[in-house]
Amino acid sequence: MTNQFIPLVDLRHAGNMLRVPAQPIAPSGSLADARGRMLRDLRISVTDRCNFRCTYCMPKEMFGKDHAFLPHGDLLSFEEITRLASIFIAHGVEKIRITGGEPLLRKNIEKLIAMLSALKTIDGRDLDLTLTTNGSLLAKKARSLKDAGLKRVTVSLDGLDDTVFRRMNDVDFPVAEVLHGIDVAHQVGLGPIKINMVVKGGANDSEILPMARHFHDTPFILRFIEYMDVGSSNDWRVDEVIPSAEVIRRIHAYMPLTKLQPNYAGETANRYRYLDGKGEIGLISSVTHAFCGDCTRARLSTDGKLYTCLFAGDGHDVRALLRSDHSNADISAAIAHVWQKRSDRYSELRSEQTTATQSLQTKIEMSYIGG
Ligand code: GTP
Ligand code: 5AD
Ligand code: SF4
Ligand code: SF4
Repeated sequence: MTNQFIPLVDLRHAGNMLRVPAQPIAPSGSLADARGRMLRDLRISVTDRCNFRCTYCMPKEMFGKDHAFLPHGDLLSFEEITRLASIFIAHGVEKIRITGGEPLLRKNIEKLIAMLSALKTIDGRDLDLTLTTNGSLLAKKARSLKDAGLKRVTVSLDGLDDTVFRRMNDVDFPVAEVLHGIDVAHQVGLGPIKINMVVKGGANDSEILPMARHFHDTPFILRFIEYMDVGSSNDWRVDEVIPSAEVIRRIHAYMPLTKLQPNYAGETANRYRYLDGKGEIGLISSVTHAFCGDCTRARLSTDGKLYTCLFAGDGHDVRALLRSDHSNADISAAIAHVWQKRSDRYSELRSEQTTATQSLQTKIEMSYIGG
């Protein structure tokens, strides 16, 4: 059964006006949302552009030559991002992930990394500063990113077979260049490196075992991601989701696995290790096992809107506050207000639906909000 096709609605201008509360609550300090979930992670999208057209994320029909990407003046500047990051850190953020689109397309991204890596957590530690990339520019940029203070990278890789990989990225990009980028990132010490594979039934599930075999007995942590109904442009169908249990079954038949404890509450991936002791894999099961219960992630879009869920339809316009005369204390109080009211749990609600074939609402695109 297919989803009824929903035309791409441009939600980028639909942000809520973010108000500074008259009585500032918790201008800084840790924050719990309405379900008791702390604010711990900030994912910052630095560009809505990408040089790939992955069919599940930026399908060519929707993101063609005439697609209107954000004009440069709409993007948060590095100074604005760093100012916001320090406010979020004062509220307890310990991990910052740079996303896109493809973040390495943002000019001088190393400069932003250097600015962010100078920030410390509330208790004076380095941030867990990381970045998700499609790997196409990694060989060129890994060294300068490391020198700027980036701790680690996560690389998206949807298959090893060159034909399958080119079909997934839909711009004929060769897999060998991404594999080379991963090697260079490893050599310069951007680890532990995670490899993310979105599994789309009928498109690349034939690559599950080859990917597992390739990354078995390496320092890289391969993670399989269930194809999600993010955005409104990928024509998501539940029958194209390969449940994580099936991924495990296929791998376990050849290379036995056993379950591991989570590294921390709220981790997106369920971890498994190979019984032969040669490495681990992760399963990110947003569709079959929602993990909203411990979700500590806030997202900042390229143009400075704060989203409290990956599946939100609307963000809160923080850029408007930055570009008017508001103080850090005002912005801090506004962010606190949004987080304290947060009750999102989209994936859980989707799972509770009896017919999961229908998307629940019109949502923002992944390339704009970051993965
Ligand atoms: P680590 O810090 O290395 O553990 O990474 P992470 O799992 O927090 O982040 P990563 O960007 O590697 O996330 C992997 C994928 O998980 C993303 O590309 C998304 O597909 C999915 N994902 C991450 N966060 C969320 C979330 O809050 N909700 C849902 N539904 N999916 C998420
Ligand atoms: N389902 C699951 N993951 C997705 N990503 C993008 N679109 C989807 C989707 N529909 C994730 C991929 C990619 C990251 C940037 O976002 O993991 O690596
Ligand atoms: Fe680009 Fe990543 Fe989206 Fe693919 S998944 S189109 S690489 S942003
Ligand atoms: Fe968090 Fe929303 Fe993802 Fe649930 S669906 S884990 S609330 S971002």
